[in-house]
Amino acid sequence: MNRIFSGIQPTGNLHLGNYLGAIRNWVALQHDYECIFCIVDLHALTVPQDPAELRAATREVTAAYIAAGVDPEHCIIFNQSMVTAHSELAWILSCLTPLGWLNRMTQFKEKAGKQREMAGLGLYAYPVLMAADIIGYKATHVPVGEDQKQHVELARDIAGAFNRRYERDFFPLPEPQIFGEATRVMSLRDGTKKMSKSDTSDYSRLNMTDDADTIALKVRRAKTDPEPLPDTIAALEKRPEADNLVGIYAALADLTREQALARFAGKNFSTFKEELSAVAVEVLGKIGGEMRRLMVEMDHIDAILHQGAERASAIAIPILREVQDITGLLRPEH
Ligand code: TYM
Repeated sequence: MNRIFSGIQPTGNLHLGNYLGAIRNWVALQHDYECIFCIVDLHALTVPQDPAELRAATREVTAAYIAAGVDPEHCIIFNQSMVTAHSELAWILSCLTPLGWLNRMTQFKEKAGKQREMAGLGLYAYPVLMAADIIGYKATHVPVGEDQKQHVELARDIAGAFNRRYERDFFPLPEPQIFGEATRVMSLRDGTKKMSKSDTSDYSRLNMTDDADTIALKVRRAKTDPEPLPDTIAALEKRPEADNLVGIYAALADLTREQALARFAGKNFSTFKEELSAVAVEVLGKIGGEMRRLMVEMDHIDAILHQGAERASAIAIPILREVQDITGLLRPEH
């Protein structure tokens, strides 16, 4: 059986990268797999969070999943901390994870920066919790954006380490699923920097809740070069800002990069940007509107999370119990 697990941190505003790199692909995959989509609130604690904002963001991310088309009847949607198996398994896995593997994680190096000595243990150990999220459900596939590939590969290595240590094929080795034309959405202000929640420049990213005027303004202000759009992918790839915008257009319009380029080759950016703005307003406008409507029905959101946590526990707890038995931990039932 093929099972998907993926998640998003409830921090800051969800942006176009989260939508195109993750949620849009989940929606496309949801009927071909058994799907578990998590709001990873424990991961959010790796940096300081205001408690009220964390609660609000957890509900907002839930609303975003549903507004974008994830079906809560079919898929399991829940917040990570409601299923304690994640943290329990993370400890067991951390005892199998060599420090050398964690030292290679580029995201830790980026996030900790020069303040490495001051970075929290949680930020460092975070990929082990992510491995527990995935393999704790024996998930086989993990649809994510390009930036999470290294973490999913680590989850694979940790699953393999468990299987070897206990000499059995217990955990399947999860595969990253990275696809679409926008697996790494870049900042609208700098084609060499990833679009991210932590970028403080207002014009660097499109948020999932931006209204039509804001989207149009940000697209108009997006950095470009003075040349018209090229007619080959090879030429496009040499121009990071143009490449990024064409990738975004293609993903939003359900086209390949080649098809998108064929529409605009030789045209100037003002024409292209009008079309990009129109498709972004159409897609994000609908999702943002639906998110706002859902956010008013807080009880409904909470009910989905509670029901999701029950369904998730029904899968994760028996797996954790087996892990405890395999590793020799006594349980009350013994
Ligand atoms: P997070 O919350 O940073 O991002 C959520 C998802 O959005 C994707 N993404 C992007 N895709 C394309 N372009 C971008 N600029 C961009 N920015 C973000 C991410 O790749 C991700 O798919 N560690 C994870 C959360 C997590 C998780 C998991 C994911 C925790 N446990 C288990 C999968 C499975 C994270 O911080 O993602």
